[in-house]
Amino acid sequence: MDEFVDVSSVLSGQYTGKTVQIRGWLDNMRSSGGIHFFMIRDGTGIIQCTMKKGKVDDAKFEEAKNLTQESSLGLIGTVFEDKRAPGGYEIRIENINVVHLAEADYPIAKKFHGPEFLLDHRHLWIRSPKMQAILRVRSKFLEAAREWFQNNGYTEFHSPTLITAACEGGSTLFSVKYFEQEAYLSQSWQLYAEAAIASLGKIYTLAPSFRAEKSRTRRHLTEYWHLEAEAPWCDLDCIMKVQESLLGHIFTKLAEKAAKELEMLGRPPQEILRMSPPFQRVRYDEVVSILEKRGVKFEYGNDLGWVEEKQLTEEFDKPFFVTHFPEDIKAFYHKPDPANPDVTLSVDLLAPEGYGEITGGGQRIHDLGELLKRIEEENLNPKDYEWYIDLRRYGSVPHSGFGLGVERTVAWICKLEHIRDAIAFPRLINRVYP
Ligand code: 4AD
Ligand code: MG
Repeated sequence: MDEFVDVSSVLSGQYTGKTVQIRGWLDNMRSSGGIHFFMIRDGTGIIQCTMKKGKVDDAKFEEAKNLTQESSLGLIGTVFEDKRAPGGYEIRIENINVVHLAEADYPIAKKFHGPEFLLDHRHLWIRSPKMQAILRVRSKFLEAAREWFQNNGYTEFHSPTLITAACEGGSTLFSVKYFEQEAYLSQSWQLYAEAAIASLGKIYTLAPSFRAEKSRTRRHLTEYWHLEAEAPWCDLDCIMKVQESLLGHIFTKLAEKAAKELEMLGRPPQEILRMSPPFQRVRYDEVVSILEKRGVKFEYGNDLGWVEEKQLTEEFDKPFFVTHFPEDIKAFYHKPDPANPDVTLSVDLLAPEGYGEITGGGQRIHDLGELLKRIEEENLNPKDYEWYIDLRRYGSVPHSGFGLGVERTVAWICKLEHIRDAIAFPRLINRVYP
């Protein structure tokens, strides 16, 4: 017998009474009364494996005493249903094969460690149950998102990371020396997506975006994963419906496929289902009066910051859209509202419970003259945007799109205190290691 089985399938009960071979890492071990108890983790689950004196070779039993946490090993044993074992099953070991005996001083002890220590040891900390659960929710989140896009006729499309024309303004651009020229890291695929809809129709992407955020906050990374969509013949209302349908699908799938992980993170799956769409729509000017009523000092025309968003989220118990932001606080490409050109057909989606913005987007300008005017007003160099402007010369159509911050959304779903835990190796203002 040389087939290894997954711990998750042993825990599902399908091997009860059978002899199996598993392999993994020693998560934890203790010994009592002539029995060694090993918790073995293999990436699919964790299972108790016991080794009884007399049932294995004496030398093997003695040797097993010296096994260290995180040693990697393979073992053969018989599966028993046992109520006392965590997970309800245990493997009674017949033979064990140590692949790598880990050094004895595993840095992450079973005691309290501060956040900086854990960030320095992130390469090891991602093995912890909490990080495993978050990373699995993240993976299921993206699996469900891709499924929705595929079911709804979207084609995956990729744009460059090295670019020369800013999408979201110069202040958060990372510059890169590109031979003799200066280039930047992309903040969003959007401008390229607007070119690609005339080729592929409805499109989406999942890619890293970069922001040289100078602020140290709980919701900013300098490199984050951006789930973006762009659709031709789609207006502001249409792009809000796209987001509702997408998130509704993701919530349903997460409650079904990541229930255990969500539960462990203190987020019962029913809570996620309760967040299902429709989402309320609030205009920016209504937001101003809500804030006023709550006694928050806020002037019409300012952008919503962390403080204002936090206040607002207390008024809603589900995600909600904020629409029609003033022109001055939105990027040049947002279409002014024909009914009131001082505001734009823009939309942010805010998550409740103090989390705030998780998506940004809206309807784009498709008229050549209007775009040229906005580029001039924003003091941008039209030369940098020549190809983008060209799109308004050859078959321009009304179109809209949005970008969802994966870590922002996962942090909210998993009820995390800080965005850094929604990604395995966070990039922050003060951290690019490990
Ligand atoms: O609101 P933003 O800047 O919008 C855009 O980039 C549009 N071009 C997207 C589009 O229409 N295709 O960014 C979109 C989302 C935000 O709502 C937020 O969730 C996330 O990206 N985001 C960040 N996430 C983590 N760290 C940061 N520094 C982020 N900046 C934006
Ligand atoms: Mg935004």
